[in-house]
Amino acid sequence: MVYIPKTYDQVDQWNSLMFIYSSALKQMNVKIEVLNSEFVHIYSYNPIEHVKSRLKSPESIVKKLKRLNYEVSTYNMTEKLNDVAGVRIICSFTSDIYQIADMLSRQADITVLYVKDYIKNPKPNGYKSYHMVVTIPVYLTEGPVETKVEIQIRTVAMDFWASLEHKMYYKLGGEAPAYLQQELKACADVVDMLDAKMYSLNEAIMKWNAREEKEKSEEGLADEEPGGRDLSGYETESGKPVDL
Ligand code: GTP
Ligand code: MG
Repeated sequence: MVYIPKTYDQVDQWNSLMFIYSSALKQMNVKIEVLNSEFVHIYSYNPIEHVKSRLKSPESIVKKLKRLNYEVSTYNMTEKLNDVAGVRIICSFTSDIYQIADMLSRQADITVLYVKDYIKNPKPNGYKSYHMVVTIPVYLTEGPVETKVEIQIRTVAMDFWASLEHKMYYKLGGEAPAYLQQELKACADVVDMLDAKMYSLNEAIMKWNAREEKEKSEEGLADEEPGGRDLSGYETESGKPVDL
């Protein structure tokens, strides 16, 4: 993906690549921030709770290349690994996930290489998240360099589960006994239920708000009616406000 002069030694190549990956993360973060702000501007609603980004450490890069049986080289790092630069977007509701994924895919400068939808197809352990591997151009003096970024999008509840599961996985040395795996899966089911409940609660609140707004605007219209009598403050004989 990246042109680096061959005369560069390994350290120079490494530093140049890491500079490009970290610039890609910066561009991605700005893009996400702008999209989120525009969304707030239009819909008065903030779909993103928070965003985390990270560059893979040299140790993890070497470990992963070895695990996948690739020679440790800067070439293999850029060609074979898709998560050297990673962004995690945490949002409020499951519906936000697809909206954010859509917004990102529609960006002219973002190319989606592939998607793994672990929400529609959760992993057997219960892991849920929406993954996209994309490229974004980093504009260097010599021209744009398409750079791979892994984007994970999940709800706060899914993130809670994944963070704890990740810690436990390491504590257990990568292999949990069957009964603990079942417990973790049971927790993932609780997370599912929580997400579904929060989603329907939010839908109900939005409907309630819309009804309130409609009633308010109808009252406003009645008050402003040209030539109409201003009945505000009038009461019927029973003491109840006049029904407009
Ligand atoms: P990795 O080699 O782990 O990067 O997996 P992959 O290249 O097959 O990609 P995949 O999209 O399956 O997973 C990418 C990333 O998602 C991982 O590096 C983790 O950050 C996260 N992830 C995937 N599966 C799990 C899981 O079961 N539990 C947790 N906590 N995180 C997961
Ligand atoms: Mg990874």
